[in-house]
Amino acid sequence: MDSDALKRAAAEAAVALVQSGMAVGLGTGSTAYYAIAALIRRVREERLHIVAIATSERSAAQAREGGLQLTDFAHHPRLDLTIDGADEIMRGTLHLLKGAGGALLREKIVASASNRLAIIADQSKLVDQLGVVAQVPVEVVRFGWETTAERVSRLAEPRLRLGPDGGPYRTDGGNYILDCTCGAIADPAALEAALARIVGVVESGLFIGMADVAFVAGPDGVARLGSSAAA
Ligand code: A5P
Repeated sequence: MDSDALKRAAAEAAVALVQSGMAVGLGTGSTAYYAIAALIRRVREERLHIVAIATSERSAAQAREGGLQLTDFAHHPRLDLTIDGADEIMRGTLHLLKGAGGALLREKIVASASNRLAIIADQSKLVDQLGVVAQVPVEVVRFGWETTAERVSRLAEPRLRLGPDGGPYRTDGGNYILDCTCGAIADPAALEAALARIVGVVESGLFIGMADVAFVAGPDGVARLGSSAAA
């Protein structure tokens, strides 16, 4: 099975959790793309009544084009379920590294407002320790980003993310991202808290204790993993 087929299988397993009447958070990335597509299909075929909030402009555009009804936090301050991808999923705890797609801030806001966060991925994303494969994205305000980066460099090795035009990458919120090389992160919660204390840091891609369930697809099927904290 190629990786797109695995992503689609994980996405469809999570979308099966959606019920009529729900307010649903839509993730961002290539796996979340399949979840939004599956949701559009279910809404059409089963006439489900759902509303959705997207974690990025591109996911919002996909949802809108597919006929999903988008809402906002003024109308739905709490969401029933959010389905999103991840760059790394820590076995057991389901702590996450997210944000390679640049949507980490909206993803964290949406996840925080959700009663359940379901993560979808192919099995390449499962790790024993965060930070070994992926970098930790840290969203920072543009003003003074150099001095913010200097303080971040006491914790990890930051590099300013660049966009396709060679200039600094800008998030949907207009901020910059520092991609930080950390190596294996011994204490992800401590690193998240330390980054959050730095003035100029908006958010990091460390999602600690937020995921309730992960659907991880491999050649033998889709495994449904719970967090040891929730067990
Ligand atoms: C987007 O900002 C990210 O958090 C994505 O959820 C993450 O990068 C996973 O993306 P893929 O599903 O494309 O691997």
